[in-house]
Order: sequence, then C-alpha cells, then structure tokens
Amino acid sequence: MILVTGGAGFIGSNFVLDWLAEGAEPVVNLDKLTYAGNLANLAPLKGDARHVFVQGDIGDAALVDRLLAGHRPRAVVNFAAESHVDRSIHGAEDFIATNVVGTFRLLEAVRGYWGGLPEAERAAFRFLHVSTDEVYGSLAPDAPAFTEDHVFEPNSPYSASKAASDHLVRAWHHTHGLPVLTTNCSNNYGPLHFPEKLIPLMIVNALAGKPLPVYGDGQQVRDWLYVKDHCSAIRRVLAAGRVGETYNVGGWNEKTNLAIVHTICDLLDELSPRTDGQSYRSQITHVTDRPGHDRRYAIDARKLERELGWRPAETFETGIRKTVAWYLANPDWVQGVQSGAYRDWVAAQYGATSAA
Ligand code: NAD
Ligand code: TYD
Repeated sequence: MILVTGGAGFIGSNFVLDWLAEGAEPVVNLDKLTYAGNLANLAPLKGDARHVFVQGDIGDAALVDRLLAGHRPRAVVNFAAESHVDRSIHGAEDFIATNVVGTFRLLEAVRGYWGGLPEAERAAFRFLHVSTDEVYGSLAPDAPAFTEDHVFEPNSPYSASKAASDHLVRAWHHTHGLPVLTTNCSNNYGPLHFPEKLIPLMIVNALAGKPLPVYGDGQQVRDWLYVKDHCSAIRRVLAAGRVGETYNVGGWNEKTNLAIVHTICDLLDELSPRTDGQSYRSQITHVTDRPGHDRRYAIDARKLERELGWRPAETFETGIRKTVAWYLANPDWVQGVQSGAYRDWVAAQYGATSAA
C-alpha cells in the first residue's frame, strides 16, 4: 500500500480517486483537513476498504510514526501543503509550518521507518514529493521554459516555502540516502478545484452573476495542465523515475490569464447562456494587481517524456471544456464548499475516524 498526504485537497483527491480506479493497491490518506481539504471529494470511496482516511498533520511526528509502522507503505506521496499564493501574501505562518517544518518532520519520520525496513523493501521504497514550477521564479516573455536545471528564484512566500521543502527533500537524499523523487508541476485545473483559484473562481462567479476579477492587465502567463494528466505523471514517476531526480510536469499550454477568462466565458455562453442574452465577458473587471506577481511560468517537460514516455492526454481545449462541464454538473459540490457545509458533513460522517 501507499501513504498519500494531502489527499483531500484538489490534486490529492483526484490522485487517490484515479489511483484506486487504476489498480487495487490500498491507500492510507493523511490530511489535516484545513479549509482546502474536503472529504466530499472522496465521497465515491465511501465504504471502499482500500481507502483509509486519517485526519492529522504531516508535522505530527508521533502520528506519522504510528501510521508508517502500522500500515508499512512501500511509498509516500506528499501532496500536503498550503498552496494559495494570495493567502501566503496575507499571512505566511501556515506556509512555513506545513510546507517547511511539516515536510522536515515527515522526512524524518519516513527516514526512521525506511531505515528499519528489510533490505529488499528498503531498496524498493520511494518518497515522492509533489512541488511546483513556481520555485523557479518568473520568466521573461521570450525566455526558454523552465528545465529541471533552472536556478531556484522563488518570489512569493508560497513559492519560497515550496522551494525550501524541495531543498530538504534533496538533502535527505544526498545526506541520508532516502530514495526520493520530486515533481515540479505547472498550474493544474479540473474537477474538485477549490473555487478561490483562478479557473474555478471564474466559473463559479460567472454563474452567480458576480464580477470576474482579473488582476492587473491580465497578461500574466501560466502553463496549464489538466489535473488527471498531473496524476498520471506522478504515477509514472513513482513507478519508473530515477531515484534522486526531479521531473518537470507541464501541459505545453501557455495562456494569458485574460485568454483563460475569455475561454471560460465563451464556453459558458455556449453551455449555460445568460438569460439576458449578454456574454459572460461583460462581467470581467480589472482589479488591483497581486503584489510581486510573477509574470510568466512555462514548463519544459521533455525530460519526463524522454526518460519515462509521459505526455499529457488532454489539450487545453478538451480539458477546459471537461472542467466547465463538471462545474455545471456539480452545483451541490460548489454550494457545499461555498457555504462551508462540507465541514459539518465531515464532522458528522468522519468525526469518529479522526486521527489514528
Ligand atoms: P490544496 O490546497 O487543494 O490541498 C492541500 C491539501 O493538503 C488539503 O487537503 C489540506 O487539508 C492538506 N494539508 C494542508 N496542510 C496539511 C498538513 N500540515 N498536514 C496534512 N495535510 C495538510 O492543494 P493542491 O492544489 O491540491 O496542491 C497539492 C500539492 O501540489 C501541493 O504541494 C502544491 O504545492 C502542489 N502543486 C499544486 C499546483 C496547482 O496548480 N494546484 C501546481 C503544482 C504543484
Ligand atoms: P492562481 O490560481 O492563484 O494560481 P498561481 O498564482 O499559483 O499561478 O492564479 C493564477 C493566475 O490568475 C495568477 O496569475 C493570478 C491570476 N488571478 C486573477 O487574475 N484573478 C483572480 O481572482 C485569481 C484568484 C487569480
């Protein structure tokens, strides 16, 4: 079995759902259930004995020790993090606590467990750390995309805390021999994305008749990857990645924020038109820019393709259509997140399974 951390968040829950759909290997899912953790994401697994959910913190060494000793995973996949740049600008404390100190404690617990494994299990064990392209900083308009050798130049408290965690993972390999893998991925989008990030926020606000807030001139560029493609890349790296290596994961989809918002509006005009006949584009408003806003990210994912044969299955056009359709088909999920009702649901359904 494998231990997944942060598996109630956006990417982690997509990963757990896909993992269990692809094979029979069980998952222990350790998640603190911060505002971003939502067990409703995992509702399809209710009653599935292959999924064990544990509410807890990656920084709780005693709990992680118990989970590792009790379940004896062959791998740990670390998604748990504070992940929203805007929140990190308002207050970075939680980012340092989870992304830096939490990763350190998790690495130490895993090192202790791994060190005690019999030889063959020790050799086969993997710690896969999920990270971001934001550690590399911001690119000039004509600069080549980020390769794995790009210098780390994080600019936000979020990216600085992720860069620190990447460095810790690297050091635990070089110093202690822990068999680690790191993936640095571009911006994800798709089902179960918390609606405070750009794409789900725009869909949800558009349908609610609210303004669509574009920061600054909207000409910032991000490289978008459909979340299921990120999950398939992680499965591939876990299965065949070279120990100690990092792999960049990206969708070859560089778009300006304004182009993204226009695409969402056009899809909604087609799939769920406004009753007054106007385009959703009329709701776009330019608002004050984010401080220190990175201008451009772009991922060169050729190493992953060359070494492990991975390529994304979705184009941006197919992925964004699926995403908009998913939000239209799941108003209850959106309503649950917005009202905070999922928290009550968690308490009622899972209160008894908290901690191990
Ligand atoms: P998310 O914010 O949606 O989910 C994070 C999850 O981690 C939540 O379920 C939360 O409850 C849990 N968590 C937070 N602190 C914890 C702690 N101390 N202990 C245990 N669980 C904790 O984030 P996401 O978008 O799913 O991102 C997952 C990972 O992927 C993060 O490491 C992020 O840096 C990385 N990443 C995200 C993107 C993206 O576009 N979203 C892109 C590249 C990399
Ligand atoms: P976000 O989804 O927060 O991801 P990240 O900052 O990690 O790339 O934002 C994506 C881009 O969209 C980023 O350039 C900021 C911009 N943005 C807006 O213009 N308006 C918004 O309301 C949000 C949330 C983001």
